[in-house]
Amino acid sequence: MQNFMYWNPTKLLFGKGQLETLKNEIPQYGEKVLLVYGGGSIKRNGLYDQVKKLLNEIDACVFELSGVEPNPKISSVREGVEICKREGIEFLLAVGGGSVIDCTKAIAAGAIYEGDAWDLVTKKTMAKKALPFGTILTLAATGSEMNAGSVITNWETNEKYGWGSPVAFPKFSILDPVNTFTVPKDQTVYGIVDIMSHVLEHYFHHEENTILQDRMCESLLITVMETAPKLLKELDNYDHRATILYNGTMALNGMLSMGYRGDWATHNIEHAVSAVYDIPHGGGLAILFPNWMKHVLKEKPDRFKQLAVRVFGVEAKGKSDEEAGLEGIEKLRDFWNSIGAPSRLAHYHIDDSKIALMTDRAMVNGEFGNFKKLNRYDVEAIYQASL
Ligand code: NZQ
Ligand code: ZN
Repeated sequence: MQNFMYWNPTKLLFGKGQLETLKNEIPQYGEKVLLVYGGGSIKRNGLYDQVKKLLNEIDACVFELSGVEPNPKISSVREGVEICKREGIEFLLAVGGGSVIDCTKAIAAGAIYEGDAWDLVTKKTMAKKALPFGTILTLAATGSEMNAGSVITNWETNEKYGWGSPVAFPKFSILDPVNTFTVPKDQTVYGIVDIMSHVLEHYFHHEENTILQDRMCESLLITVMETAPKLLKELDNYDHRATILYNGTMALNGMLSMGYRGDWATHNIEHAVSAVYDIPHGGGLAILFPNWMKHVLKEKPDRFKQLAVRVFGVEAKGKSDEEAGLEGIEKLRDFWNSIGAPSRLAHYHIDDSKIALMTDRAMVNGEFGNFKKLNRYDVEAIYQASL
């Protein structure tokens, strides 16, 4: 295990009725609030009205940015930055899924940066300051509610990049499972796949003595796999929604990554797909992750065997580590198939015509992946295997 520093300043407000805490939280930061939300789900399920009522009660002066897209675009970020600068916004409130939160993070940093916010996303410059912001999460998936990362797309150039900064932690995040009841089945599945993928990205590394970290990862995977089929039968079950929501935050808030670095190549490969084809992140991961695993299995077969045995119940006796590991990968694929996740790029009508472009995008910073460094031939092979 390597030395580590763990710091996560986001206040988590979890459970039924936590929305009320907005009235205590926001006044600490200011009166002029920019409310950021997506394409309308919060209007349809009533959350928008509840939030507006509470903001009225604290006499907040509210401005709005609506229509933030899934795979949020730099054009929305620029629009939000413009409102912040023009109106002197003091606090931002994101109400939505990872896309709305990621967009809000970029607006918060862009609002006190003199240049174009795209510079922050491309890391031409590091975000050193940001307006304070909070989140009301409506979809369990990304972990953005308790981390300092944000992923933004430039649709004109087919680029989608993640950036992060210590200034991009939310001040608080309100997680009421009830606010996730209306997430449709497909988005619920994508969220489940994303959560499991975050754990798997952590799991593959070469560090020694990560006994507790391994067990925590395995626990999260087992819990999600036990809960997901029950939740998908009953999308408004509070307990199942709560379990998945809590898992989603824990999978990517830094708790799993103490003392080692995970791989993260598959996320890079997926971001390149959704930059070119605008597909849901979790859908892309479901297709790509098992193929990345097969591609790198030989790097450390005993790691794959450990996952197969402990999480997927594979019987390893009489099998090589590689055989047992492969069986585990197949069980992961079977599980994702069983909950209705896609398994081929063809599901999104993606053929081989833009593999070169996607590979260019994935390779923008050269070889990548901490468990196994991938070059462009590796990336192309993973795309080909995923068609
Ligand atoms: O836009 P609205 O109308 O709100 O609808 C959204 C959207 O269409 C809908 N939705 C959200 N909550 C709902 C709901 N519908 C009904 N009821 C609710 N309660 O779901 C759709 C998808 O929402 P989105 O926010 O795009 O999903 P997700 O949370 O999966 O976020 C995906 C984005 O996050 C990035 C992805 O790349 C992608 O751009 N990621 C961010 C990360 C981070 N910041 O740490 C890490 C992740 O690995 C990921 O890359
Ligand atoms: Zn993800």
